[in-house]
Amino acid sequence: MRVVVAGQGYVGLPLAVRAAEAGHQVVGYDVDPHRVKRLAAGESYVEDVPAAQIRAILDSGAYTATTDAAELAGFDIAVITVPTPLRDGIPDLSYIEASARTLGGHLRAGATVVLESTTYPGTTEELMVPILESVSGLVAGRDFHVGFSPERIDPGNRDWPFTRTPKVVSGIDAASLAVVKGFYDELVETTVPVSSPKEAELAKLIENTFRHVNIALVNEMAMFAKALSVDVWKAIDAAASKPFGFMRFTPGPGVGGHCLPIDPSFLSWKVERTVGTPFRFVELANDINNHMPDYVVRRLMEAFNTRSKTVNGSRILLLGLAYKPNTSDARESPSTRIAELLLGLGAEVRGADPHVVDDIHADARLVRVQATAEEIAAADAVVLLADHAEFDYDAILANADYLLDCRNRLSGANVETL
Ligand SMILES: NC(=O)c1ccc[n+]([C@@H]2O[C@H](COP(=O)([O-])OP(=O)(O)OC[C@H]3O[C@@H](n4cnc5c(N)ncnc54)[C@H](O)[C@@H]3O)[C@@H](O)[C@H]2O)c1
Repeated sequence: MRVVVAGQGYVGLPLAVRAAEAGHQVVGYDVDPHRVKRLAAGESYVEDVPAAQIRAILDSGAYTATTDAAELAGFDIAVITVPTPLRDGIPDLSYIEASARTLGGHLRAGATVVLESTTYPGTTEELMVPILESVSGLVAGRDFHVGFSPERIDPGNRDWPFTRTPKVVSGIDAASLAVVKGFYDELVETTVPVSSPKEAELAKLIENTFRHVNIALVNEMAMFAKALSVDVWKAIDAAASKPFGFMRFTPGPGVGGHCLPIDPSFLSWKVERTVGTPFRFVELANDINNHMPDYVVRRLMEAFNTRSKTVNGSRILLLGLAYKPNTSDARESPSTRIAELLLGLGAEVRGADPHVVDDIHADARLVRVQATAEEIAAADAVVLLADHAEFDYDAILANADYLLDCRNRLSGANVETL
């Protein structure tokens, strides 16, 4: 089949590669000329997709990357994997709208359009379908198929790659569902059909809201447990020995990435707009998780105070700028806010991260360094924010004067955990 994947990012690129490897003729369409140039040169900017994989499908002719919408003509299936950010707390669906307009111009009878971008229930049928219909002059269901299949990709997670992670699939009618399910059945081991796009859209938001709320729960516990002089990490481990009715979540310096800080707010925005009442769990979780960077800085200030020092004028080394271990994704990372707060207090802030190569998301005053023994020893405080596998934890322990460990990775006389 001729497959178009609109959006070649963290979600779209692995999908395009998998579809090409499964025998489809794939066009990876993106509006970002730099990304397309890199892909066309056989380079990868997504850690889970090795460059060799891209070069292999380029060489076999199964994949092309383009910014030219004319190359979308004649597609059998198009999958939309474009961003869905929040702008001032309001879902920005302009990327989906733009994609639908572009694809609508190349839509022909018998083709299928699937939305994968995370969004609130109703987007596929109420927003995307009308655009596809008006641009193409065709009628959804009668002339072309439509579905929604949420992405569950977890960057850096080697246990659950794209192919092994079950994929929820839906269609606007039985024929659409059959085509969408058939397409993904070739790409992943398990598909989970549901009865409507709305159900699939909500399923994704339930997953992320569940995670967001439970992380907020343990984050709040961590703050209280510290005040109660209880080791929250050990208490969580003990609770996790219960074989049923409990799922282990651990505290951290805040949430980041493109999912947790954003997706639950799509749901609360839709609920508030439709029902008129706030989604209180989401608001509370946002409040707690968004304020974890403040708590990290407060803990540092207390530690400095105990040692009759000030944050002002001190050198602080942040280890791990990505929002979680073993990924280069620094979008919405709490490290950015923590750096800003410390810089605002007059600290000299340095950051080490072997994965995060660009500086786009970090404050320009944050000095990027390697986590060498010298850098660690020269810092008045070291803060472990993302416990990447590459860090030399023995060297960190041996050389740090004071270490605030936000991941419970280390123990020693110079270590405090969050
Ligand atoms: N990153 C994740 O871990 C993850 C996981 C599950 C779901 N999602 C969801 O998947 C969607 C995509 O996320 P992502 O992380 O891949 O984003 P991304 O920013 O990495 O990639 C999106 C790509 O779409 C391109 N784009 C923007 N407008 C376009 C258009 N009109 N036509 C074609 N391309 C266009 C951008 O240039 C970019 O390369 C979002 O809705 C996100 O919430 C992401």
